Amino acid sequence: MKPVKVGICGLGTVGGGTFNVLTSNAQNITRRAGRDIIVAQIGARRPNPNCDTGDTPVTADVFEVAKNPDIDVVVELIGGYDIARELVMTAIEHGKHVVTANKALIAVHGEEIFAAADRQGVSVMYEAAVAGGIPIIKALREGLAANRINWLAGIINGTGNFILTEMRDKGRDFADVLQEAQQLGYAEADPTFDVEGIDAAHKLTILSSIAYGIPLQFERCYTEGISKITRVDVEYAEELGYRIKHLGISRQTAEGIDLRVHPTLIPEDRPIAKVDGVLNAVMVNGNAVGDTLYVGAGAGAGPTASAVVADIVDLARTMEADATARVNHLAYNIIEDVQVLPIEAVETAYYLRIQAQDRSGVMAKVATILADRDINIEALIQKEPEQDEDLAQIIILTHRIVEKTMNDAIVAIEGLDSTVGKVTRIRVEQLS
Ligand code: HSE
Repeated sequence: MKPVKVGICGLGTVGGGTFNVLTSNAQNITRRAGRDIIVAQIGARRPNPNCDTGDTPVTADVFEVAKNPDIDVVVELIGGYDIARELVMTAIEHGKHVVTANKALIAVHGEEIFAAADRQGVSVMYEAAVAGGIPIIKALREGLAANRINWLAGIINGTGNFILTEMRDKGRDFADVLQEAQQLGYAEADPTFDVEGIDAAHKLTILSSIAYGIPLQFERCYTEGISKITRVDVEYAEELGYRIKHLGISRQTAEGIDLRVHPTLIPEDRPIAKVDGVLNAVMVNGNAVGDTLYVGAGAGAGPTASAVVADIVDLARTMEADATARVNHLAYNIIEDVQVLPIEAVETAYYLRIQAQDRSGVMAKVATILADRDINIEALIQKEPEQDEDLAQIIILTHRIVEKTMNDAIVAIEGLDSTVGKVTRIRVEQLS
């Protein structure tokens, strides 16, 4: 069979890694794909010192690659929304298949891009967009196709997991760990995307669409970052038998679909609670299969290139087939009328940390506020004031309750004369 000709746009961490994997594993890849896969052109403004591109033609104009008549597959690894979108649309208009690692692009512009690709009879592949080297897109679209997916929960930002792990294990500062993640090439160009949960929200949006067959709705994803997590909350969580992880969670309920990214207490004996450092993990619960867990590197040159190259191999196997014989982009007949629930309508359990004056009756007032709203307390710790302080800490774990009711209770607790400052609230999930 004639070789598949690939154009790589962007030669940063992932672009360089993709070139290196395609060349160093060429023999094996050819055996798997049944044909050679050749990098015919690279579009990049700067060389990558970790990647020797040899005689491969390089152009500074990525659009030249998208229009190159010799190229079958355009690999978009430049990131961002605007130029990446234009590049992908140009490649599609020129009849190219596209492989991308760009979660922001798929989460925000995926509907438009997939529609254009369907019109042209080409495929847009995006395995590397979610959880780096973990083949979670393939698992959800194909491996779990028999199931109604009940829920999924994932550690889908390596930088955030790395930061939380280092803070917990080594007592390191937030900023210091973030800088290391940037140096290692894990963090986004704008690292607030990592720590404020935007990157995870992009990925959760994609996972949820293929899990439930709903349109991509990034704008409806509730997003809360980890920048306000303190060491004391990490310690109290541990005392209660929990770990704090930054999770993307979605759940199919009778009322609609939860779609939320936020710090979450999870029981320390769940396997996902032990996934540390830059690793990612996704738990998926299907009604036939039960719980499944996928763990691996979620960022970095090799792991992300592994997913990019797997997509190229998939295309090499199927690109000559009729478009209807390939797995369609979201692998579902999409249902438009399923509601994504606003966060106020979501039901979950809570960890609350309340700072209060050390006087009699405070605990009773807090307990009354919760009881009046039918919020059931599961565990409670009171810490006497530390030396030189006069505030006691009350830590409460609740049973599940609708968020709107909890918001109302928190306002009432913060309004008590004997409490001080804001209540810290972290959502709790049992993942079972
Ligand atoms: N910034 C992302 C992360 C890279 O830390 O997980 C992979 O998407």
